[in-house]
Amino acid sequence: MSRVSKLFTAVAAAATLACAAVVPTQAAPAAIDANSNSISVFYYSLNDLFINQLSAALQDRALANGIKLRQYDANDDLMRQISQIQSALVINKDGAPILVNPVDTQNGVAALRAARQNKVPIVFFNRKPSDEALSSYEDAWYVGSNPANSGYYQAEIVMDYFKAHPEADRNKDGVISYVMLKGEPSHQDTSLRSNTFVRTLLEDGVKLKPIASVNANWSQNRAQNEISTLADRGQLEQIELIVSNNDAMALGAINALQAEGYNIPNTPAGDHSKYIPVVGIDALPQALDAVERGTMIGTVLNDYTAVADVMMRITEAYLNGEQITDEVLGYTTHEHIIDVPYVKVTNENISEVR
Ligand code: BGC
Repeated sequence: MSRVSKLFTAVAAAATLACAAVVPTQAAPAAIDANSNSISVFYYSLNDLFINQLSAALQDRALANGIKLRQYDANDDLMRQISQIQSALVINKDGAPILVNPVDTQNGVAALRAARQNKVPIVFFNRKPSDEALSSYEDAWYVGSNPANSGYYQAEIVMDYFKAHPEADRNKDGVISYVMLKGEPSHQDTSLRSNTFVRTLLEDGVKLKPIASVNANWSQNRAQNEISTLADRGQLEQIELIVSNNDAMALGAINALQAEGYNIPNTPAGDHSKYIPVVGIDALPQALDAVERGTMIGTVLNDYTAVADVMMRITEAYLNGEQITDEVLGYTTHEHIIDVPYVKVTNENISEVR
């Protein structure tokens, strides 16, 4: 077999492992030419609405700078991601960095080990490996945001809302009865967002009563089912707030509420007879629409465009053999961790985020 056809077979094998949303570059052997500046990016799941948005931002950013992306979707399958990374490292002859959104933190370690053995820089994003794992390899980076801050911003949005709309406390007991929709239990964002949200409100003297707290694992459908179940049990009337660890679940909750005649777009402010405030995180375009229509009170920008930009800056610096400094990245780095700030989003500043 010629070198080119061997490479083609390797690429084809890697492509088979990758799932649905794969960019065309993956099919062409030319994409692995050492001069073509092509890099591989591994997603835990492109079915995740936020990850999908991030992948679009990354593609735009790469395209704008002449970098080709080979995208791999693990479909939330750890073994699949490990095979994808191993196959890609085999064809990564020019030592280009790999970008990894691990299926879980353990996988982060396996990916890191494979990258180190192959002397390939690795840039993790969205799901953070442990500090210990990160510091064990000098060419490992993490680009993400500090999850606690998004929980804090959600608390601010809720406090401002209840101050402006005291009637949202429908039973007038001075306590906010809430449902919390949480992400995967093992994800750093789940506990840090949830705990910071609750702690911030309690510290501010707000009284809270949980009606339900469920792990809908970031999924719109699962969240929709959870809220529909509460509706079937006749519990909607007790709920005065739905706080969600991400927008996808918030949007699922809104679908379920709307099926019960709640949160109809443009419900007059102050009418809480069929309105439950919902707050999310991510600032997905669909969530921004919901904030504009008033079916959601706010969200927090999980800045996927900035994350994509920083990842590409690191990548380009490696490809060009340049030093990676704070100036190059546009952020202060700490132990190879780049913390991209969240932004609180309500109807007041939505045009700045669009
Ligand atoms: C996002 C979620 C997403 C998760 C995936 C979080 O930072 O807010 O929407 O599902 O990352 O890892």
